[in-house]
Amino acid sequence: EQIPTIYKGLAGVVVDTTAISKVVPETNSLTYRGYAVQDLAANCSFEEVAHLLWYGELPTPEQLELLCLRERAARRADRSLLSLLTKMPDNCHPMDVVRTAISYLGAEDPAEDDNSEKANLAKALRMTAVLPTIVAADFRRRRGQDPIAPQSDLGFAENFLNMCFGAVPEPAIVKAFEVSLILYAEHSFNASTFAARVVTSTLSDIYSAVTAAIGTLKGPLHGGANEAVMHDMLEIDDPDRAEAWMSEKLAAKEKVMGFGHRVYKNGDSRVPTMKQALLDVAAATDGEKWVQMYEILEKTMVSATGIKPNLDFPTGPAYFLMGFDVEMFTPIFVMSRITGWTAHIIEQGQSNALIRPLSQYSGVPQRTVVA
Ligand code: CMC
Repeated sequence: EQIPTIYKGLAGVVVDTTAISKVVPETNSLTYRGYAVQDLAANCSFEEVAHLLWYGELPTPEQLELLCLRERAARRADRSLLSLLTKMPDNCHPMDVVRTAISYLGAEDPAEDDNSEKANLAKALRMTAVLPTIVAADFRRRRGQDPIAPQSDLGFAENFLNMCFGAVPEPAIVKAFEVSLILYAEHSFNASTFAARVVTSTLSDIYSAVTAAIGTLKGPLHGGANEAVMHDMLEIDDPDRAEAWMSEKLAAKEKVMGFGHRVYKNGDSRVPTMKQALLDVAAATDGEKWVQMYEILEKTMVSATGIKPNLDFPTGPAYFLMGFDVEMFTPIFVMSRITGWTAHIIEQGQSNALIRPLSQYSGVPQRTVVA
């Protein structure tokens, strides 16, 4: 029997076309609908980028106003959803809460199975609007604090920070947070987006697809890396110990979270922008120690292996310095990436084919049951 070539992890396999984003590792570039992410991060709000991903174009002022009105009107979590949060075990990971909440939103929606583009755009907006309310309520619940209601006079990023901390932080922090949301929003056929597209390809509903994507993002080889980075940094604690720590990890052939990438082999295109955001946050919060540690870890890794940091490396310490508990980092990633996921779910629906690859059997030869 001829054994077909197997592309473990689908590495290098082009599965489908997409008009949503383009990754060019050779030129270290990432574009959303034709715009460089750095350009979007410097000039746009998260809401504008969401519009771009969903509708293919940056909004006109009127379109932006409409999107913001609808987003702000959909922020409130209803009583049944908030009471569901309080029933989640105290020690479960916040990603479990987010995953359950989205699944519940689907169960609650009488039009759950309407997979028309119009319905899916409305559901995408609803999930994007209410997720920050859920994440912030869960963040405060874990600190023994009551939730803070969303405020319709604040933008997406400001409102979330206000719901977490009870005040809108200074503009440099809000901007850095918004930049992280824009950089996290979309990244072609990454594992969670692909999972969402697989679910959609069976003609299942958008909530099911997003639920699967959340479960996929949770892992430390994907979105969970931003948390792992900060756990490592907290363990190192002192920049003077960073070089020895990294050398030990490499000598033990252990993977260091926040470094390396399946697609970018010469550096993640999003890192310079997010590193600048980290520097801005550190300047505003006396976070110099974590910047020093960042530099030493990066230098040690690059000189030993040539492997460069990915986006999760600067976002980890940036979120920590903004005041978030480490376990909230990946749920924040969800708040952003849900825009990319839902854009892909809609695109998958536009030219669907059931995703059903083949496998090469490697088990025992056929045999007969002995009664
Ligand atoms: N630390 C140490 N060595 C590494 C790392 C790392 N972070 N990443 C890759 N390598 C080495 C790896 O050990 C292997 O060496 P060898 O050829 O000697 O066995 C070589 O580089 C190739 O690595 P690979 O794991 O086969 O490559 P991949 O394309 O499957 O890996 C990756 C991509 C992201 C899974 C991997 O780099 C990794 O595990 N990184 C740490 C987790 C992480 O930061 N994930 C976030 C990814 S970016 C954000 C996102 O998309 O969610």
